[in-house]
Amino acid sequence: MKIAAASADFPILAQKINQHSLVYLDNAATTQKPRLVLDAERSYYETSNANVHRGVHTLSARATQAYQQARSTVARFVGAADPSEIIFVRNATEALNLVAQIFVAPKLQPGDELLVTHMEHHSNFVPWQQLAKQKKCVLKVVPVTDAGELDLSALSRMLTVKTKVLAVAHVSNVLGTINPIKEIVALAHTKGVPVVVDGAQAVGHVAVDVGQLGCDFYAFSGHKMYGPTGIGALFGKSEHLEKMPPFLYGGDMINSVTLDQTEFAHAPQRFEAGTPNIAGAIGLAAASSYLEQFDWQEVVRHERNLADHMRAGLDRIAGLRVIGLPRHSVGIVPFVIDGLHPHDVATVLDSQGIAVRSGHACAQPLLTRLGLTSIVRASCGIYNTTKDVDQLVAGVRQAITLLK
Ligand SMILES: Cc1ncc(COP(=O)(O)O)c(C=O)c1O
Repeated sequence: MKIAAASADFPILAQKINQHSLVYLDNAATTQKPRLVLDAERSYYETSNANVHRGVHTLSARATQAYQQARSTVARFVGAADPSEIIFVRNATEALNLVAQIFVAPKLQPGDELLVTHMEHHSNFVPWQQLAKQKKCVLKVVPVTDAGELDLSALSRMLTVKTKVLAVAHVSNVLGTINPIKEIVALAHTKGVPVVVDGAQAVGHVAVDVGQLGCDFYAFSGHKMYGPTGIGALFGKSEHLEKMPPFLYGGDMINSVTLDQTEFAHAPQRFEAGTPNIAGAIGLAAASSYLEQFDWQEVVRHERNLADHMRAGLDRIAGLRVIGLPRHSVGIVPFVIDGLHPHDVATVLDSQGIAVRSGHACAQPLLTRLGLTSIVRASCGIYNTTKDVDQLVAGVRQAITLLK
């Protein structure tokens, strides 16, 4: 399928905002949903809604089959060897907390080290910071260069015999940097350190094959890959999942229960206590199928070209500074303007129908490192065009004229 035609698949994009055609450039916060995803969820509720794994009746069997099929589709989409390596969760945040609490926490002794990077979203920073405090461990932070890349030689030096985990983003939500995860995983594994990858900004924008990356865990959210909110997935190598205790306790995660004890189900059920987000999982699978129609190289090139075009346009504006220049990046462009608050810039852009993010982008340690407290962030998706980018650049010029 051709990317040029993609916007027609997204009904929300056809509307006007503040009397202007919507230009949606806040894809790193959440993406819009194609008709295929909307139809899949609606069709599930209209034809198959029932609880899974519980009833013997026809609808329950249908819902169970659709839920299991969704797991297989998502597993194939991210290159997991087996569907049982995919755990459905609410979002990437929940997936990362799950790994911190039930894979890493039980192994920790006081003085052990947890390694994260300076470019993490709070979702892949705070769980490790808090775990380090709980367990009297040391949180170590891999530095980021001024260009917005990880300092890989520092990373290599910071992996020690005390390191119990490395948590790293595949793609930075502020800088758009694509980190060399395969190399990083290989390096960490030579030192026996398991790697947890936050893939929230990668899935849907670059090809992801967890088998090739070799990582131990990979977390992502449905809503950032053109799927629904409230559903995400955690890939975990089966050798880890089979040894891990449950995350939450309750129905649907057991084999048998007596008054004295409980035998837990195998993965992935063991980690999915309670009624799952069945429609969400079906929607997530539909988003995966939608994306599978495109050629990844073309998707990457498309979003990268838009980012380059945006950088070139913004760079020509006096008093505007684009932050970072990573060699490998997706379509995310952060910038600041002398004397203007990012919220004011975003408000003026909104009055022209242009949606961007402003604020700390849930990455305060990174912004502090860059000497900033707030940015404007424009982020592209599959449906954006150079016309959108030109409108953004013109909108920014207008914001400066109005606000200065
Ligand atoms: C890199 C990164 N990690 C994690 C998250 C958290 O995603 P969610 O809020 O869907 O859990 C985000 C969301 O912006 C993100 O950009």
